[in-house]
Amino acid sequence: MSTMGQRRGSIHSLGVPVVMVCIAALLLSTVWIYLSLQSISETDEQMVYTHVGCPPQHFKMATMKNSSPWLQCSQINAELRKLKLIGQGAVKKVYLSEWKGHKVALSQLACQDYLEDFLHGLSMLQALQSPLVVQLVGFCLENNTIVTQHHPHGSLLNLENVLAQERHQQHNTWQARLRLATEYVAILHYLHNSPAGRRVMCDSNSLEKTLSQFLLTNDFHLVVNDLDALPEVNRSRNLLVKCGHRELTGDFVAPEQLWPFRNSGQPFSDSAMPAYDEKTDIWKIPRVTQFILGETPETELVHFHLFQIHKKCREEDPELRPSALDVLKVYRAVHSAMVQDTSAARDML
Ligand SMILES: Nc1ncnc2c1ncn2[C@@H]1O[C@H](COP(=O)(O)OP(=O)(O)OP(=O)(O)O)[C@@H](O)[C@H]1O
Ligand SMILES: *[C@@H]1O[C@H](CO)[C@@H](O)[C@H](O)[C@H]1NC(C)=O
Ligand SMILES: *[C@@H]1O[C@H](CO)[C@@H](O)[C@H](O)[C@H]1NC(C)=O
Repeated sequence: MSTMGQRRGSIHSLGVPVVMVCIAALLLSTVWIYLSLQSISETDEQMVYTHVGCPPQHFKMATMKNSSPWLQCSQINAELRKLKLIGQGAVKKVYLSEWKGHKVALSQLACQDYLEDFLHGLSMLQALQSPLVVQLVGFCLENNTIVTQHHPHGSLLNLENVLAQERHQQHNTWQARLRLATEYVAILHYLHNSPAGRRVMCDSNSLEKTLSQFLLTNDFHLVVNDLDALPEVNRSRNLLVKCGHRELTGDFVAPEQLWPFRNSGQPFSDSAMPAYDEKTDIWKIPRVTQFILGETPETELVHFHLFQIHKKCREEDPELRPSALDVLKVYRAVHSAMVQDTSAARDML
């Protein structure tokens, strides 16, 4: 009797607090889910738009509270610690380095012959800072050094290796790959309509070379990194470009970039080589996109949807090719159409 009463009593007396605890726990978990969702989208945005909201000539990395002015020689020399060589191109040697606990990339001029390209690259980095361009952290002209945000996944050339890793499986989807391809076209659109005029991505004579100019961010977005060869096109000033002074060959470059008299045995001459415009970048889009899309079960369907626009990109006559914006619009439309198809199919199951 007394035990029953006690038990009942204890149950009864526990009753209110248990309900309270349950409600409190439910509320807490809701708040927690809400907060973590928010922090996910916040870090997502922070990662993508790290330097949006920064005043000009400032930078901000993910874990910094405030923007900081671009680092100058004195800070680069005193506060930067070189860790290891992570990249070497014709123009630059790139070292993973540390600045106040932040990983940065320190690029140094590799060969005096390329000083002009190096300085051009730096001036373009300064002029074109945007979420689509690697973030400039500082530079020192005395030492020919440039400091940028470090991206551990490295260049787009590493895409397959990175996506093959177990912990990145959730990004190895047609959605993520199509988004990367779309960002690549968005970068071309930005360069072709940039604050520094219509710029052509000249350092792109092969697929590998082209891929090595883009970096893959931690959250699987794309930024353009190497701006050492961005000559300007301006039709109203009759300004056209040539990507270098030497003969270009191979099937990656656009047909107008090839020496037109190669089949008649006339030796190449830079002065006789006709100049061209930004439509060379458009010609290369299908090949780069094909690499980015890789092999997923849905890849064939994506290629099918992109077939028409890619065909136009490969027009022999550059003037018949679409603009980067035309291509971008199609990529976005294909993405949303395929997302809708996928969810409609899921609904039917
Ligand atoms: N911020 C960075 N984070 C991670 N890796 C980087 C970064 N900057 C450069 N790298 C690596 O270093 C390589 C070479 O860099 P970059 O293209 O700037 O050098 P380059 O000498 O201008 O090359 P090129 O021969 O194409 O002119 C890149 O392809 C990339 O793998
Ligand atoms: C840059 O040059 C200064 C001398 O002007 C030198 O003390 C410094 O170590 C150099 N920094 C780097 C990163 O090479
Ligand atoms: C082309 O040059 C003219 C004259 O300098 C300039 O006004 C115009 O903005 C330029 N166009 C582009 C697309 O940069």
